[in-house]
Amino acid sequence: MDSLQGMSAIITGSAQGMGKGIAMGLARRGVDVALCDVKKDILETTANEIREATGQKVITGAFDITDEVAVKAFVVEVEKGFGKIDILVNNAGIHPLKPIEQIEGKEWDLVFAVNVKASFFFCKAVLPGMRKQKFGRIISISSEAGKNGGTVAALHYAASKGAVLGFVRNLAQQVGSDGITVNAIAPGRIATAMSGAVSPEENQKFINNSITKSLGTPDDIAYAVCYLASRKASFVTAETMAVNGGTLRD
Ligand SMILES: NC(=O)c1ccc[n+]([C@@H]2O[C@H](COP(=O)([O-])OP(=O)(O)OC[C@H]3O[C@@H](n4cnc5c(N)ncnc54)[C@H](O)[C@@H]3O)[C@@H](O)[C@H]2O)c1
Repeated sequence: MDSLQGMSAIITGSAQGMGKGIAMGLARRGVDVALCDVKKDILETTANEIREATGQKVITGAFDITDEVAVKAFVVEVEKGFGKIDILVNNAGIHPLKPIEQIEGKEWDLVFAVNVKASFFFCKAVLPGMRKQKFGRIISISSEAGKNGGTVAALHYAASKGAVLGFVRNLAQQVGSDGITVNAIAPGRIATAMSGAVSPEENQKFINNSITKSLGTPDDIAYAVCYLASRKASFVTAETMAVNGGTLRD
């Protein structure tokens, strides 16, 4: 794979799970990483783990990514700390499980605020710097559920992950001439706290339906992110990369 050495990245929702795996994967390839999450304590532990394992610079921000003012302030801090931002990974997400009858309008808005609107805040904040340097890699974590509706009751989640696909396809067209690519990854079921909240029976169904007969790992997603973030992936944009063990073959 083309070297990522010397790049710098923001990864949202990176205290744990996939975001942590992505941050570690990028840092192992020479990328300075800025982590943000609402989980302050775990965030600092993760940051130290990455520093010790890779020797890369790590910046942390403990804030709610639905707060546009906090997002802007963090982007300014990271630009100052690293001198630039090459990669943005919109990873943070929430996945409340409940049937339509139990979803209140407030929760619907929260799911869209975290899973979609916060990515808009981050993209808006990092784009001036990326346009200036004529290089950028924006990668948003969608989900298989954004394509097939998912297999568990989470209407707002599936709808928000479908929205991410339209988001990347539109933004890619607006920024492509400035050397910026915008792509999505649609993971299948990945072994994290989020999939741990789904019943073991549901996870087993996913495994049975997969070609690999397994759940994925944060590392599987990290490797896909590293490819899309690389300089040589410059002709890949507005794309949704499936990383799902072959469960959804579309
Ligand atoms: N695990 C799966 O099977 C799976 C499958 C497909 C897609 N995804 C997507 O992958 C991404 C990562 O999921 P995960 O499995 O690692 O979940 P996770 O719950 O382990 O991690 C999500 C992280 O996002 C953070 N976060 C949530 N709301 C936030 C907010 N408002 N501000 C800041 N941080 C916030 C959480 O604190 C948490 O650390 C999500 O977008 C999720 O929808 C997960």
